[in-house]
Amino acid sequence: MNSSIDNPINGTQTFKASMRAQWDIAASAWDAHTADIHAWLHKSTDAMCRMAGVTKGSRVLDVAAGSGDQTLVVAQAVGAQGYVLATDLSPAIVALARDNATRAGFAQVETRVADGEDLGVPVASFDAAVCRLGLMFFPDPLRGLREIHRALRPGGGVCTMVFSRPEKNPCLTILMSTALKHAGQPARDPFAAGGLLSLGQPGRIDALFRSAGFHDVATTALDAVFRLPSVDHYLAFVRSSASPILQILGQLDAAAAEAAWREMRERLMAFTTHEGWEGPNELLLTAARKPKEAT
Ligand SMILES: C[S@@+](CC[C@H](N)C(=O)[O-])C[C@H]1O[C@@H](n2cnc3c(N)ncnc32)[C@H](O)[C@@H]1O
Repeated sequence: MNSSIDNPINGTQTFKASMRAQWDIAASAWDAHTADIHAWLHKSTDAMCRMAGVTKGSRVLDVAAGSGDQTLVVAQAVGAQGYVLATDLSPAIVALARDNATRAGFAQVETRVADGEDLGVPVASFDAAVCRLGLMFFPDPLRGLREIHRALRPGGGVCTMVFSRPEKNPCLTILMSTALKHAGQPARDPFAAGGLLSLGQPGRIDALFRSAGFHDVATTALDAVFRLPSVDHYLAFVRSSASPILQILGQLDAAAAEAAWREMRERLMAFTTHEGWEGPNELLLTAARKPKEAT
């Protein structure tokens, strides 16, 4: 199974530099949408923390933490005697995570700019690790999981959250296919490394966890409907914060990009309900344990 980057972007370092730049640009908008993101993901985030074994006093590693919505949930769960290290590739988004933790009064949170594939934390220094909607963006997710394995103490737990299959995440599929069509690019393999849905292929993420040395690997699929007042609220979120789509449309002139956004809106209208707008999503929560006898 190929776990390294296999896409038109030339090489892993270029891919990561582009990913960092995209998230630096999208950072403040992602943070500004925290209330919507929290409402969308809070149940699955609570489940992720439970499945990773986050408890009072735990030392927890948060990988690809973004502006820290789940970091604050973890900080609350570990309490003042615990510790959370929130790490992310993008310096701009890490700065927002630090501000948010400070504003919430969580002295137990530290932040660090770090590539999830090369965390640079001491061996066996954490009780638990979480990674919410980040691992699928890694060009080499196996390397990322080996880093988490290295960071955990023997017996420590981990839980990651990624998107599942394309047909269970139709809004993402519509956004991506429409953006590519308008940019004159061929359809992409949704499971190619580093993409939004790259870890959604059934069985793939479990196999990566096992290859990284984890035991008791189990994946749970959870529905996470994104409920917003209207399709325009969803598009406002995507237009400011969805960096993979913005990267594709960034190559077009303004009129061509507007045409793409118009077609996306038409197609996404299909999810309008009496209550507002409800975009279906399916998430995979994968929990596992570093074996007690591991080093
Ligand atoms: C969809 S956001 C999720 C942020 C946050 N976990 C949340 O759920 O709100 C994806 C995050 O992954 C980060 N990311 C992408 N590639 C990464 C890598 N190789 N190492 C660390 N973080 C990475 C991005 O900078 C971005 O903050």
